Amino acid sequence: MRVVTTTHAPDLTPGPYGEPEPTPLALLLLGRSADPNSERGVECPGELPAPSDPDLVERARAAKRRLGDRVFVLGHHYQRDEVIQFADVTGDSFKLARDAAARPEAEYIVFCGVHFMAESADILTSDAQQVILPDLAAGCSMADMATAEQVAECWDVLTDAGVADRTVPVSYMNSSADIKAFTGAHGGTICTSSNARRALEWAYGQAEKVLFLPDQHLGRNTAVRELGFSLEDCVVYNPHRPNGGLTPEQLRDARLILWRGHCSVHGRFSLDSVRDVRERIPGVNVLVHPECRHEVVAAADHVGSTEHIIRTLDAAPAGSAWAVGTELNLVRRLSRAHQDKQVVFLDRTVCFCSTMNRIDLPHLVWALESLADGRVVNRIQVDAETEANAKLALERMLALP
Ligand code: 13P
Ligand code: SF4
Repeated sequence: MRVVTTTHAPDLTPGPYGEPEPTPLALLLLGRSADPNSERGVECPGELPAPSDPDLVERARAAKRRLGDRVFVLGHHYQRDEVIQFADVTGDSFKLARDAAARPEAEYIVFCGVHFMAESADILTSDAQQVILPDLAAGCSMADMATAEQVAECWDVLTDAGVADRTVPVSYMNSSADIKAFTGAHGGTICTSSNARRALEWAYGQAEKVLFLPDQHLGRNTAVRELGFSLEDCVVYNPHRPNGGLTPEQLRDARLILWRGHCSVHGRFSLDSVRDVRERIPGVNVLVHPECRHEVVAAADHVGSTEHIIRTLDAAPAGSAWAVGTELNLVRRLSRAHQDKQVVFLDRTVCFCSTMNRIDLPHLVWALESLADGRVVNRIQVDAETEANAKLALERMLALP
């Protein structure tokens, strides 16, 4: 069970803009209403500076100066430009997890990313360090697609089918601390899009089958593209259907049991997006994140994590053309950074990760100024038992060759 500590007690009654009835998948509108046990967003306490305040940049700088080495700001590559300029380090979720763990002297880790990343930072840092998420509504719809109850039920289904003792869980970083704890307690590891292949190789050294949570696409793409599995080796467990929608025979025959989750941003890219851009830009290189659907990945020229995408464009020759299938803040920054190349978004319809975008300059200024004034706001704190098991899984990942 996750604990979110704020300076104000969270209000659990739905606000005027909240959902009338909580539903398993919908995002809470604009983070109004509180649901501290969900990635879906909770109310942000405190008085935020006005977005129109012309002094926001100077206020953020001044608050960071006042805090000095006591604060360390981490920024995921999908963050807005106005926020990323204040990051002490930027990275994908793997790099940021390592960076957070490597800063024992910083009293406050301000995580400009989403909730599951801040939880992972809390798990990997010492008890004396406090992790702050500037807007608690910065959740992740994919992480919300696997709840602890659903995963426990799935394990029961695997047990009844007689396959649980031959299965090891591998959970994507993009999952709640509860799911990471389940993974650690069942002998599994965490992976990110940078090390999914190594994580799966490790897992198949431990057991005959893998339960991959919660992103079906990363699991399938890695197994098929990098481990030589066939699509028939994989089955999809749907938590909304009895027994996951699978028969015991299907579970016994499968090598990889994929959780039915996906990223709402990368899931938007389609085969049509690839065909369309190839028609519009002859000779274009299509470069996509492995959270994209399998047919998109199969039609692309290059596939890789966020860091891989950045490195590929850095190494690309001047004059080359690239259509990039990942989050828009990053693609826009890459396009500006590579003026000698043509870098476009893979789809005609632009799309940000709406929850990553929740972290804006007013929230960052509010968080930094509060810390500088001695008030800890929006602390993300995972309880001790969850932390112990989740840490096992995260440390297995950090120890992967
Ligand atoms: P990486 O940071 O591992 O590339 O994952 C992308 C993502 O969707 C983060 O939320
Ligand atoms: Fe979640 Fe996708 Fe946004 Fe990453 S990009 S935080 S996986 S919804």
